[in-house]
Parts: sequence; structure tokens; C-alpha cells
Amino acid sequence: MAMRIPFIAGNWKMFKTKAEAKAFAEEFVKLYKDTDVKTAICAPFTDLDTLKEAFAGTSIGVGAQNVHFEDSGAFTGEVSLPMLKEIGVDYCVIGHSERRQYFNETDETVNKKLKKIFADSDIVPILCVGENLDQREAGKAQEIVENQIKADLKDIAAADAAKMVIAYEPIWAIGTGKTATPEQAGEMCAAIRGIVEKLYDENTCDQVTIQYGGSVKPENATEIMNMPEIDGALVGGASLVPEKFMGIINF
Ligand code: PGA
Repeated sequence: MAMRIPFIAGNWKMFKTKAEAKAFAEEFVKLYKDTDVKTAICAPFTDLDTLKEAFAGTSIGVGAQNVHFEDSGAFTGEVSLPMLKEIGVDYCVIGHSERRQYFNETDETVNKKLKKIFADSDIVPILCVGENLDQREAGKAQEIVENQIKADLKDIAAADAAKMVIAYEPIWAIGTGKTATPEQAGEMCAAIRGIVEKLYDENTCDQVTIQYGGSVKPENATEIMNMPEIDGALVGGASLVPEKFMGIINF
């Protein structure tokens, strides 16, 4: 069985100017010690080069939060993969529920973006999936997540799928302070591993990194990380404060 390395990623969303990112990074690098846990900050495009520079010589990764599936073109407001590669980003969040909700991201565009990343870069995608409250209450959570994963990974090779990160983020737990119980989170992450096995094979599902995201904080990180099928966390609010994010990494 593959040994999966725990991976804690921050998702800053639309927070922090360059100056604020620099201040965070300076403080965070002082607190940070190399551990067995991989870590990264996924930040606004305008902060990426600042973070790459500030984290140089450390093992702290840097991620974007979106990418377009074309190399260039008349796509006002978008950022392409060559642009991210030039900065040297390590990760890219794809299909976050906020993008699906507010910016017309669909399983189809998510699939195109994943294919683009795998075809032309070594960037590791962090694919976000998850159900909303109505869907959970209707008992449809697993079905929704399974449909998302099937559509998002359509025609993606096993070797690529094995390298990726899937973040299970129940929409009702994002930014609400309402965490899924470790059992709910663990159950869905186990289901996701089963879905990946069904789509591919045992080897692929053993390798894929599965994170939980939704109101993760230092106080609940240990019990979440202790669930056997949860390999990491995608952290929004608590990743904005160096001590809090460090507290999660040291779960
Ligand atoms: P939260 O956000 O930790 O603030 O709930 C998680 C996310 O949206 O990735």
C-alpha cells in the first residue's frame, strides 16, 4: 500500500494584498519547521510571485486557485497555465464550490482544466468536490460527489489521477464554523477512495491524496486528521493567520 504523506493546504480565497502576503510569509517562515507534513498556500494570482520568493529555500509550496484551459486568447480576466508555470506554482485549486456557485464553473470546465494541467505541467491539481445542505439532508451526498468525480475525471489517465489531490468540501461546512463531524468527513473520504478505485484501480486509489475542507481549525485538526481515509485538509479562514495555520500543520 502506498504511504500517503499528509498534506495541509491553505486557501486564501480573495484575501491579502501583496504587502499582506509578504508579512504573512515572513512570520510563517519563522514559525515553520520541516515536518513529515507537506504544506502549501493557495493564494490570489497577485500574491503568487511574492510567496514563491518568500518561501524559496523552504519546503512550503505555493498554489493558484484557478487556471484557464487555453494557453492564451481573448478571455478577459483569466490567467493561463503558461503564466502560472512561469511563476513556478506547485499546486492549483480546481472547481472550488465558490467558483462553481458564483463563476459558472461546471464539471465540464473543471475536466478541461484538469486535462490541461496534466497535459502541459507538473502542477498538482487540488480538485474540490462536495454537496450542499439540501443534498445532504435528502440523503444524496454520496451520489452527488460520485457524479462530480466521474464527470471531473472523465478521460483522465490513471497515472495522472494518482498524482492529484481531491478535497472533499461539504458546502454547508465552508466558512460557516459548522464542521462535518470527523465521522461524516471520514465516511465521505472513504467513499471517494472507493469511487476512484471503481473508476481506475486499487493502486490509483491508494495513491490519491484526499483532503477534508470546511471550518478546519487547530482545535479540530487532530480528530479530522486521525480518520484513516483523510490524508489532509484544505483550510480557508484559519490559513490567514500564521499561528493558526501552523497549529493545524502541527495537528
Ligand atoms: P473554511 O474554507 O476553512 O474557511 O471553511 C474552506 C475552503 O473553502 O477551502
